Amino acid sequence: MRGVVYVSEALVYFDKMALESLAAEAAALNFDRGITGYLYFEKDRFVQYIEGDDDTIEDLMEVISRDKRHRVLHAVVEHELKERRFPSWHMRQLRRKELLEVKLEHLLTDYLVYLDSKVEAEDDAVDEDDLETKYPSLVWGMVNRLSDLRGKLGAY
Ligand SMILES: Cc1cc2nc3c(=O)[nH]c(=O)nc-3n(C[C@H](O)[C@H](O)[C@H](O)COP(=O)(O)O)c2cc1C
Repeated sequence: MRGVVYVSEALVYFDKMALESLAAEAAALNFDRGITGYLYFEKDRFVQYIEGDDDTIEDLMEVISRDKRHRVLHAVVEHELKERRFPSWHMRQLRRKELLEVKLEHLLTDYLVYLDSKVEAEDDAVDEDDLETKYPSLVWGMVNRLSDLRGKLGAY
């Protein structure tokens, strides 16, 4: 299995209803393909985490990246994912209010955007090894922490 977390920038306006239908449509499609994860939106940015079979995730990531409603800024892939982090969430939209309890996702957004700016700038100060090992492990640490807290957040 594979897990992908990415940050993207919305290119069209999303209001509450548009977000709800995006998540509901995604959940229905994901259910059929055994994809689980969550979607978060704040200040014109999406953070989405998806997990499932390698080929399915690869295909979905391609579809999502082509979607003109947003622009993917940075994605981090975890290969050889052993077990699902969010087995019961086919695409749960996380609300801001819920995350105020978790106080975590905005950290992940900022961090992924920060990483993107480093890569974009080809910053010499960034150690290649850090980009490959240290940074992804920090990212997954945050995603795992959210997974630990999912009981508190409730089912979709
Ligand atoms: C932020 C964002 C997240 C999305 N997440 C999913 C998803 O989890 N699953 C999914 O099937 N489509 C998702 N979509 C929609 C896809 O980009 C695409 O519109 C949908 O899969 C239908 O694809 P099709 O027209 O090729 O059938 C997402 C779109 C956006 C903008």
